[in-house]
Amino acid sequence: MSLKRIGVFTSGGDAPGMNACIRAVVRGGIYHNVEVYGIKRGYDGMIKGNIYPMDSHSVSNIVQKGGTILKSARSMEFMTPEGRKKAYQQLKNFDIDGLVAIGGNGTFTGAKIFYEEFGIPTVGCPGTIDNDLYGTDFTIGYDTAVNTALEAIDKIRDTADSHNRVFFIEVMGRDSGYIAIQSGISGGAEIIMVPETRTSIDDVIETLEKGKLKHKTSAIVIVAEGDEEGNANQVAAKVKEKVSDLDIKVTILGHIQRGGSPTSKDRILASRTGLAAIEGLVQGMKNVMAGVVNDEVVYVPFEDTITKHKPISDDLIRLAHVLSI
Ligand code: F6P
Repeated sequence: MSLKRIGVFTSGGDAPGMNACIRAVVRGGIYHNVEVYGIKRGYDGMIKGNIYPMDSHSVSNIVQKGGTILKSARSMEFMTPEGRKKAYQQLKNFDIDGLVAIGGNGTFTGAKIFYEEFGIPTVGCPGTIDNDLYGTDFTIGYDTAVNTALEAIDKIRDTADSHNRVFFIEVMGRDSGYIAIQSGISGGAEIIMVPETRTSIDDVIETLEKGKLKHKTSAIVIVAEGDEEGNANQVAAKVKEKVSDLDIKVTILGHIQRGGSPTSKDRILASRTGLAAIEGLVQGMKNVMAGVVNDEVVYVPFEDTITKHKPISDDLIRLAHVLSI
């Protein structure tokens, strides 16, 4: 059965580049004679029938914009069978027979269950700043988020240096240390704490002490929000407890990392995976995510993106360690 009309939505945390992805889905649909409907606010909008037709013009002038014109949400109702049934009925009302979901693993888990229950095929695009999805080298929004974090780290280093201070900077990433390791290495951080590898409070203190011996007067410690020693406030408090004479400050970069105009790299990744998603759907694919590995578009089963962990390369961890001595 060939698809006539599909729905596209963004779900979970927004990420810079989602708009470029929506644009590619809509224009790819037009190219393949498939009608594309936008679903607002993710699964919530699907349940409520917040659905409207999109044309080439509806995605004009958005490739450069952060956020998502379709808005996003984390839907509790879609997690229930009743919620999914309502969503299915809405899709039937609108004659929608396939979906492109731009989001992360929570989004794909919902899409997989939805297919098992109602047979609506979904192809996903990796939309999250966390870069935590197995099956793609990078996720949409990650590059922009790293550059946003890096700009902030560079600025903090100026003031850290002027005041001889130790700054603990918390970056996002949920359970993944990708944003931390990449922004930390490129920002020349003295210490980078990520969930993927253990850095104890004693390790932190030892590195700071060594720095002092080398006449370093300030230091930057990047703390991934999911680190096992705790968040930046907790890590800073533990360090302060043991070395009371340090002048310590904490900065939590927070949601600033989710906004802003996407980098060229994110726009290209978003455009490639958006087109690949609609083309995959047209070819009859389902329950897969379009990703890019070694600069080639690939389709990875949701089963793998959901169950498999994407590790940080040992090479990056080693690089961070060697450069911080
Ligand atoms: O998944 C993206 C992300 O920004 C994570 O890095 C972070 O842990 C989480 O979302 C924050 O979610 P919310 O915006 O719902 O607080």
